[in-house]
Amino acid sequence: MAMRFAYLAADMPPGAVRRVDVPTAAGPSAPVVLVRTADGEYHAIADRCSHGAVSLSHGELDGHLLECWGHGSQFDVRTGCPNQLPATVPVAVYPVLIDSGDVFIDVDNPHDPADLRHTHTPSSCGAKRAQNLPANPIEEQ
Ligand code: FES
Repeated sequence: MAMRFAYLAADMPPGAVRRVDVPTAAGPSAPVVLVRTADGEYHAIADRCSHGAVSLSHGELDGHLLECWGHGSQFDVRTGCPNQLPATVPVAVYPVLIDSGDVFIDVDNPHDPADLRHTHTPSSCGAKRAQNLPANPIEEQ
């Protein structure tokens, strides 16, 4: 784990969506969408829609779904899976840690798609994750 400071928890009210640039072990920062859902959960996903090269951080959060402003696909922030077309490929999901009022994100070690498949998503999305995610999604951006 390489948790790195990303944001102040006090500046993340429920429903907040923030773009953060999180340093990687390799040097360059990775663009991340940090959200706090209405029920208080924090989630971090890659800030790039898998359908087009647009920022998901400009989208609207509804429950656990973040809508892409490009063409309307909604991504589950818990899993990275899109729930409707035109996007069909999930985005990376990163571990988040809250400690002493600070939010930390590990962009070097995205969640294992197999773990996410069993917690929140239909198996079809998990299968797509396993087939389509690059080995290191950060390098692809
Ligand atoms: S660019 Fe996001 S759905 Fe098309």
